Amino acid sequence: MEIIRQITLFKEKIKEARRLGNSIGFVPTMGFLHEGHLSLLRQARAENDLVVLSIFVNPLQFGAGEDFEDYPRDLERDAALAVSAGCDIIFAPATRDMYPKDYATFVEVERLTSGLCGASRLGHFRGVTTVVNKLFNIVTPDRAYFGQKDAQQAIIIRRMAKDLNMGLEIDVLPIIREADGLAMSSRNSYLTQAERKSATVLYRSLCLANESIAAGERNAGLIEQLIRAAIDSERLAHIDYIAVVDAENLLELDKIEKRVLIALAVRFGKTRLIDNIIVEV
Ligand code: PAJ
Repeated sequence: MEIIRQITLFKEKIKEARRLGNSIGFVPTMGFLHEGHLSLLRQARAENDLVVLSIFVNPLQFGAGEDFEDYPRDLERDAALAVSAGCDIIFAPATRDMYPKDYATFVEVERLTSGLCGASRLGHFRGVTTVVNKLFNIVTPDRAYFGQKDAQQAIIIRRMAKDLNMGLEIDVLPIIREADGLAMSSRNSYLTQAERKSATVLYRSLCLANESIAAGERNAGLIEQLIRAAIDSERLAHIDYIAVVDAENLLELDKIEKRVLIALAVRFGKTRLIDNIIVEV
């Protein structure tokens, strides 16, 4: 496996792979890899000749006062994990090369970006779509792999790829969880022991909602209240949002009657965690 930082050098590698007729599978990440990222890499390995992982903590998608500086970084550890999951090349560009001083171009998806995480993290998705667009242009993947963990991000990227005729396949894979249900996240490393214990309430509350819908509840407002009560019972948990929305277009629902996305963002101390489930009725 190779680690390449230079954009021009990396593009040479891609050109060579293309000359050989190799298909390219791509997993974009911000590093500090865990099983969630590795599941994407393994799927890419199974479906492509060349597997590329990008590691780039993208400043554009962090707001003022967010954790850009503190975001965990450990390339050596990541490289060992990436090899074990079948990665061929890690592309780890420098910020100054991705965004030189005179940088002026941004990609923005409308509507889908206004609610949920878009409402509490202004400009976040503009940063995500801009960097993913740049990465797609550099890597030129046949297939790109994303996690359902970031449900809104996956929907937005699918939209962007379709709207801008990017001509690649976007695959969205299931959320990988710890044994106690907590969705894996690089940010879990910020949690204190007490916060880590409290954070299990996220998945527990989503399971309660799932059970209630399975038992016949169709009122979205009541489902939201059920989740709110469960989370509020944890002293260390502070709700950012609870959303019960149409799983295709992210529009709010009164009544649950088709595929519904139930998504949460909750703060534990300085750490903001997200989780979600899709419920089919
Ligand atoms: P990052 O948070 O590093 O996540 C990289 C990819 O891994 C995303 O597609 C995310 O949904 C997926 N992922 C994270 N945790 C997961 C889990 N527990 N189970 C399954 N998949 C999981 O998302 C980003 O980086 C960035 O926004 C990025 C797309 C790289 C643009 O900067």
